[in-house]
Order: sequence, then C-alpha cells, then structure tokens
Amino acid sequence: MKVLILGGGGREHAVAWKLKIDNPSIQLTAAPGNPGIEELGRCIRINPSDAAAVVALAQDVGPDLVFVGPEAPLAAGVVDALSASGFAAFGPTRAAAQLESSKRYSKELMLEHGIPTAGASWHVDAAEAKLAVRLTGAPVVIKASGLAAGKGVIICPTVEDAERAIDQIMLQGVFGAAGSEVLVEDYMDGEEISVFAVCDGTEFVLLPPAQDHKRLLEGDRGPNTGGMGAYAPVSIATQAVLEDVADRVIGPTLQAMRQRGAPFRGLLYCGMMLTADGPKVVEYNCRFGDPETQVVLPVLREELFDLMLRSAASGLGASRDASQGNGAAVTTVVAAPGYPDTPRTGGDIEIPDAPPGVVTFHAGTARDSTGRLVSSGGRVLAVTGVADDFAEAAALSREHASRIRLADLHFRRDIGWREMERRARTAGN
Ligand code: GLY
Repeated sequence: MKVLILGGGGREHAVAWKLKIDNPSIQLTAAPGNPGIEELGRCIRINPSDAAAVVALAQDVGPDLVFVGPEAPLAAGVVDALSASGFAAFGPTRAAAQLESSKRYSKELMLEHGIPTAGASWHVDAAEAKLAVRLTGAPVVIKASGLAAGKGVIICPTVEDAERAIDQIMLQGVFGAAGSEVLVEDYMDGEEISVFAVCDGTEFVLLPPAQDHKRLLEGDRGPNTGGMGAYAPVSIATQAVLEDVADRVIGPTLQAMRQRGAPFRGLLYCGMMLTADGPKVVEYNCRFGDPETQVVLPVLREELFDLMLRSAASGLGASRDASQGNGAAVTTVVAAPGYPDTPRTGGDIEIPDAPPGVVTFHAGTARDSTGRLVSSGGRVLAVTGVADDFAEAAALSREHASRIRLADLHFRRDIGWREMERRARTAGN
C-alpha cells in the first residue's frame, strides 16, 4: 500500500507514524515532509498547494491514497485536482473547505440551519464593524473571516479593545487579505474542546476528543498561539456531550453541505465551547488539528488508512462512535525563542532517544546544508507521552521535552492541568 502525505508539520508526522504503526509495510512519500517523516518514508520538496506539481508527483508515486494535511492546499483545490486525475484524496474539495476558509460562510450556514453557535454579524467596512461592536457590547470577539494561520481571532474584554482589533485587522492588515472581512461575534464562556469526525459526505466516525492549550503561558495565560500542547481524551467530553455534538452539529452540518452541493469528505474538526446552554461551535476546521492530532492518533484504536480510504472513496457505511480510545496521550510543544511573534530559526536541535511511551513529532525542523538538524519554524517539536494513566502520560511528555536541546527554547510544563485537576476532584469525591 502506498500513501502520499501532503504537508510537513507535526500533524503530518503523526499521521505518518500512525499509518506505519498500523501497517509497517505501508510505503510513504511526503511533500514536503520533514526530517521526522524522512525516517518513515521519502520526502520530496514541492509546495503542497501547487496542484499541478502535486498531481505530477501522484502520477509518479501511484498512491492508493493521498492525505492532504494543511488547510492551504485544501482551500487551493488540491483535492479537486487529484480527484479529477483519478486519485483517492482524503480531504474536502475547495468548495467544502470554505467551512474553514471563510468564517462568514460557516457562520451563515450555522445560523441558517440552527446549528448551535454564537450570534455574529459580518462586515467589510470598519466603521460598520465598530457600530456592531457598540451594539453588541463587551466582551466581544473579532474574527478575520479568511485563513490566518490560526491567529485571526481576537477576544476583546472592552469595546475600545474591539475597535483597536478592527483597526489592526481591517486598516493595518495584520492578517493580510484574510482580514478584509471581519465577524463581530458574541463572547462565549466555557471550556473549548476539539471534536474530530472522519466524514464521507453523509456518514461520519467520531474520533477521541482532545483539548488544545492555545495560550502561550502556563495556567492558560498570555497571547494565543497555534497550540502549545494538547491531550486526549477529555473527561468533560462525556458520551452525552459527544452524542449532542453528533446529533446537533456534525449530522446537520453534513446535511447542510450536501444541500449546498458541496458534500464534506475528510476530517471535520469542530471547535466546541461547552457553555452553560450546551455545546456551541466556536469554529470549524476542515482538517486535523495541530497539535491535537499528536494525541488523538496515539489513542485511536481504529486503523487510520482504512478510515481515510473509506472517507475518500468507498464510503464509511454507517456513522459510528470510535471515541473510546486506548489510555491517554499528552503532547508538549517545544517552541523556538520568540514564538509566537517573531520565532528565531536555524538553531541546532538535539533530541535524545525517547524512552518507552514517548514519541517526538517534528513540526518546525529541517536539515541544513551539512545535514545538521535545525529549527525552521515557531513550533519545533511536539513531544507526546502515551500511557494508561493520564498523569503518567503528562509526566512522560514534560520530562522528555525538558531533555530536548535548542538554545532559548520554551515550552509549557503544565499541559493537561485542567484534566489533572478534574481527575483529582473526582478521586477526592
Ligand atoms: N490546534 C488548533 C488548530 O489546529 O487549528
């Protein structure tokens, strides 16, 4: 069996690792891949958003399945191009990827179909957006409508903060073209969880739920990042919560997309806020989360290749719940100095051999001209601990992260703290 993986981050390394764990004889090619994936297969340096180059590579490799990892190639229509050339590609078409690439599109869809989410309005004019802020009041959330590498959301405690955010996004262009339209959205209070469903347009399979730590600093403080760590499973994502999300969000979303003539195949990622009024959608993504994938796949019992091929080609058969995983996984992101604002790259990395129960996923790494491993992005590695016991998984992850060598690196030592507190409370009752 042959799989072509598009992308080169921690998520794609985790997918490559899981495919090899399930089936060691599988042959992997990645574009562009990274030095971690290179230990599992061949890496070819092409741009995964260049549809013509991807199709040419697929014609050369002859994969049974192409896995498209990041949102940019999905939004660029790489799945459309692969399908038109006869390849089975896991991921949504360009039209279906609008669920992530346009927050206005997804908000309109949710409001039209009664899918639980925060109220919002959308604006292409800054003065109009500020008027909406004054009508909504604070706290309020300002979102760039387009793709902004996970950074386009600003939570504003006051009206003045929101007006500043609108100026930054719409007038100063901090998120580029992604900010030419903004959403002014009601603030939701609660804990956010990441619910992943593999979809075939009609049916879906729920994967184990995860929680991401988006804030830079311990105790979930400081600026937002792409994610400083994650864990799975999440005990507040009870069976009842997951059934609710399946019935009121995932099923209706798939139906709405079919009605729009854009059936959703691939991975539907629902960022769900668990509010006092029940779970509500914060946002959809149209691909696996990063770093959640680095914890969801290590606990997933099912074979990933089979799930993805069914999603892309033959169909899943029926919807089912595969959310009960094996044990627990915790991942700690090791970040470059200066991340998230201005990460400094090019630093030498040393990764000691991992003890049993630890996998080190490469995210922002590269080989320099002499073959040395160096940092090449803000989030450099994701160190995942896997164990039957949650606290043990967290300790494995934290302790191995502290053994990584990279000048001025930083990481959080408290990944999974909310879950640890919940488990301690339950044990004390
Ligand atoms: N962890 C957040 C994301 O993948 O968008």
